[in-house]
Amino acid sequence: MKPIYLDYNATTPIAPEVVEAMKPFLEDNFGNPSSKHWYGIQVKKAVEFARKQIADLIDANLDEIIFTSGGTESNNFAIKGIAFAHKNRGNHIITSSVEHPAVSNVCKFLASQGFDITYLPVNKFGQINPEDVEKVITSKTILISIMHANNEVGTIQPISRISKIAKKNNIFFHSDAAQSVGKIPVNVNEMGIDLLSIAGHKLYAPKGIGALYIRRGTKLQKLIHGANHEQNLRAGTENVFGIVGLGKACEIAKRDLDKNFKYMKKMRDRLHHKLKNSNLNFRLNGHPEKSLPNTLNLSFFKIDASDALFKMPDIAASAGAACHSNKVETSAVLKAMKISPEYSMGTIRFSVGKFTTENEIDDAAEIITKIIGKFQLN
Ligand SMILES: Cc1ncc(COP(=O)(O)O)c(C=O)c1O
Repeated sequence: MKPIYLDYNATTPIAPEVVEAMKPFLEDNFGNPSSKHWYGIQVKKAVEFARKQIADLIDANLDEIIFTSGGTESNNFAIKGIAFAHKNRGNHIITSSVEHPAVSNVCKFLASQGFDITYLPVNKFGQINPEDVEKVITSKTILISIMHANNEVGTIQPISRISKIAKKNNIFFHSDAAQSVGKIPVNVNEMGIDLLSIAGHKLYAPKGIGALYIRRGTKLQKLIHGANHEQNLRAGTENVFGIVGLGKACEIAKRDLDKNFKYMKKMRDRLHHKLKNSNLNFRLNGHPEKSLPNTLNLSFFKIDASDALFKMPDIAASAGAACHSNKVETSAVLKAMKISPEYSMGTIRFSVGKFTTENEIDDAAEIITKIIGKFQLN
């Protein structure tokens, strides 16, 4: 018996429909999309069809989608691309203190290159205050990068309000939507986004494929130089089967968005409800409403999350803190949310997905109650 998988924010399995769509490109359709003969034309068509499937999910135009190797590359391209292309205008970038390392470490690198980075604080729910954005803008600000939904606690940021401020001040606005695309509606026009990062493996496509939405007219410095693939913005022969998989996953995400949202929320709430009815001592992290429908981030009082997960091998979930040589290292997100150490050290992120079953939730609740109950008794 495999462990119960409650770590969909780490990665998702590839959906069977996605596997089916990809199969011909792992087998017969091996052409290079740049080739002008029949073999090339077949796969080129598939790549362009996938581009349309992605564009349709987020309300973009075809020429606004660039394929990348995943969320990390999309974030790198967006942030460094704007920073280096517009450095003559200014060197100031605004981001938040709860970004994924694929954003925060890009900003750290840029700081070493002479850029000035402002990390905005968050409230106890992990949300930034748009008024804080307005307050820190200077004449040198060229980019605001704020994630759509947080990978650890699921909190959704007030993106439309921030984008209005960015627009008013003529500043580019990037959002890391690796965790939100496929789980909640993402519309680049309604949200007022100039650059948006997508990661395939968070929405039932394979790992190592992603996309960057770039609003028409947005100038970026190239990250990967070579031949002139992808509108001469990202060199390298396309990862065709990954692209086909991402396209199919986006088509399915659009078709099933409502259904999956309700289903995941039901599973997530079922787990939460069962644990609330146990005698465990814990607190919920993240916004009680403005949050991803699949994420349940709980801090169990005075336990070590890694130890607890080790004692629950039948559950696959993630700890929010790691113990290194007897020192508990809390995640940057929990620190930014000012969760006290006696809670933050016992933080576990449970994230459900469209394949999670009621039985799995019920079994997981039983195991968690039993094992963490023992920890809290001691
Ligand atoms: C919010 C967020 N951004 C970026 C990434 C990185 O994406 P990838 O694994 O495709 O590089 C992740 C993945 O964990 C994520 O959760």
